[in-house]
Amino acid sequence: MPATVVIGAQWGDEGKGKVVDLLAERSDVVVRFQGGNNAGHTIVADGETYKLHVIPSGILYPDTLCVIGNGTVVDPGGLCREIRGLEERGVDLTGLRLSGNAHLIMPYHIMLDGAAEMRLGRFSIGTTRRGIGPCYQDKAARIGIRAQDLLDPKILVRKIEIALDAKNEVLERLYQLPRLDPAKIASEQLEYADRLRPFIGDSSLLIDRALRAGENVLFEGAQGTMLDIDHGTYPFVTSSNPIAGAACTGAGVGPTRIDRVLGVAKAYVTRVGEGPFPTELDDADGRRMIERGREFGTTTGRQRRCGWLDLLALRYAVRLSGITELALTKLDVLSGFPVVRVSDEYETRDGERLSELPYHQTVFHGCRPVYREIAGWDEDIEGCREIADLPRNALAYVEAITEAVEVPVTLIGTGQGRADVIDQVGR
Ligand code: IMP
Repeated sequence: MPATVVIGAQWGDEGKGKVVDLLAERSDVVVRFQGGNNAGHTIVADGETYKLHVIPSGILYPDTLCVIGNGTVVDPGGLCREIRGLEERGVDLTGLRLSGNAHLIMPYHIMLDGAAEMRLGRFSIGTTRRGIGPCYQDKAARIGIRAQDLLDPKILVRKIEIALDAKNEVLERLYQLPRLDPAKIASEQLEYADRLRPFIGDSSLLIDRALRAGENVLFEGAQGTMLDIDHGTYPFVTSSNPIAGAACTGAGVGPTRIDRVLGVAKAYVTRVGEGPFPTELDDADGRRMIERGREFGTTTGRQRRCGWLDLLALRYAVRLSGITELALTKLDVLSGFPVVRVSDEYETRDGERLSELPYHQTVFHGCRPVYREIAGWDEDIEGCREIADLPRNALAYVEAITEAVEVPVTLIGTGQGRADVIDQVGR
């Protein structure tokens, strides 16, 4: 199974970092294919905590090639800081590659992200304010700056001038912010260029060669299905496609090269930012999930909204990405609940029962979950490594999920550490 895509099956923060980290050990190449430093992965390895934002999780394995693909958006300053932080802790970065076609987040993207959110007021999206949306906007408008532009100072300056021409008007007139000097931005970017130059290249070719040589390639998605710009809870979404299909465009490989798709879902659901969330809890159960699950964002530190597992959303994710197997993370967080709930159906404002996610957002906003109760378990399962060691009720919970989504659960997270996992991937 040389080519595996790992994606988030919920609203992001499903624990993909840990899953990718685990699978990276069996991979020769790990590729990020969309998103930017709006993502955040926490990995606990040998008692040390690493927080990664745009560098693929495989970087902790010295022999793994880690590719930041063309579909990503990269903040050059942020990437340089991430590189420095890892180097200072002795992590070897010789395996890092950055696609020359990846778009770069410029300081004006970050300013515009914040200013647009302020202007939206109570209609704001709750973005990470990392400039993700404005950068993808420029990509589509064909006035973006790409990693390869760092290799040609004359072109870089010219492109920044072009992009800033209209933006300075917007910054000044619409948002009453200071105009930016293209020359100053370009010279700052050229400093980053010195640091990033050795990493920039043709990542699609590199991945193709690895696949032809029979190597294992892991495509690492960021965010999650419900934040997909086409299929998520628009407009409360990110500006890229976190579903499996995007691995092809975002890495430069054809769909026939992908062998399997691993969807990652938390045993419950969390969401950061605004937007609908039918199974959201605003009670002691939700607070327990926040506390036990340490549900605070890696990137922005925001407290995550928590709720029961939404099986409609999970089935939707399986459909959209052709998920072939599931990783269920943080099952240990649910220990001690007298009952756990899953939503099998929604009830609309009109009292209609739905078993599939409604496409119409007006309907979706008005949906309430219809829960099925499953008996909880008291046993502490932290660090459990064998499926046979799970308490009967925990196993029944996993089986209920498998049955509902019709794909096997091959990986179960049972604690924070790298080794706290029941791992049946590929068995
Ligand atoms: P943006 O990606 O910063 O534009 O934010 C758009 C929406 O996606 C907001 O609701 C964010 O909270 C959410 N979001 C972006 N990245 C992540 C992530 O890595 N995990 C969870 N939510 C995210």
